[in-house]
Amino acid sequence: MKRSFTIAVLSGDGIGKEIVPEGVKVLEAIGRLHGLAFNFKEAIVGGGAIDLHGRPLPDETLAVAKAADVVLLGAVGGPKWDGLDSSIRPEKALLGLREQLGLYANLRPARLFPQLIDASTLKREVIEGTDLLVVRELTGGIYFGEPRGIKPYRNEERGINTEVYTTKEIARIAKVAFEAARKRRRKVCSVFGDILSDEAAMLTGSIGMLPSASLGGRTAMYEPIHGSAPDIAGQNKANPLATILSVAMMLNYSFDQEKAADEIEHAVLGVLDQGYRTADIASPGTKLVGTKEMGELVIKQLMKA
Ligand code: IPM
Ligand code: MG
Repeated sequence: MKRSFTIAVLSGDGIGKEIVPEGVKVLEAIGRLHGLAFNFKEAIVGGGAIDLHGRPLPDETLAVAKAADVVLLGAVGGPKWDGLDSSIRPEKALLGLREQLGLYANLRPARLFPQLIDASTLKREVIEGTDLLVVRELTGGIYFGEPRGIKPYRNEERGINTEVYTTKEIARIAKVAFEAARKRRRKVCSVFGDILSDEAAMLTGSIGMLPSASLGGRTAMYEPIHGSAPDIAGQNKANPLATILSVAMMLNYSFDQEKAADEIEHAVLGVLDQGYRTADIASPGTKLVGTKEMGELVIKQLMKA
């Protein structure tokens, strides 16, 4: 079995720069425990890439991603780039990576950890036992459909987006969903996925807890489902657990290391059991920690197990 992997590290903007290093440290620790070697290749993406190269997804970054076994992505975007034309906004980097890497299937598990039941604004009896998997199509539909854009129309302007899927695109994402459901409760419900995965975060207490895997091509991509959170960027406040749980998904789906993935999940649960919380999941009586401390606690817990 392969034991050495190349990981493209695209931390991006805002809190991406803080949470991704914690994911990398967890990978290094689990690598030592399981005899796995990781070769990290950093590349620039999003707003930072616009500043430096005028484009959110420079060719060099795409090349690093394509050559890697997997991509670990943080988040892109921020107020600084909000005024740019939509064709070169930071978010376009995400769409470009998905398209270029052929990542049509996005898995977004939303599980409520019992320790966080009070972190949700919803009532305990409503959310208890929540465990769902959003399977989101990523390379078809409204993000890529043509025609699109804003054009003059009579005496005003008119905006157009096109929601379009081919039969093949629908069949392959449905297959992913049905196969996943076979291993779960054998239920599939078809609805709109991006907003739904954000809403699912409310069930689990915080969007800072939700990981994701984007699969389909040779190189898979792993990222937290949340954004770059410019309001708390650079303050050591962000929750790194969504990234750390994305790393667990990476070990499971791309590296065939189910045991290592389980160990990471257990370490996260262990740290939550001890009452440590970042601000987004804190509730009265818990111990507030920052991004780095949370990462270190997970590693300490991993080493103990
Ligand atoms: C996500 C994000 C992206 C999406 C945006 C930034 C393009 O919301 O990954 O969920 O909608 O896919
Ligand atoms: Mg989203």
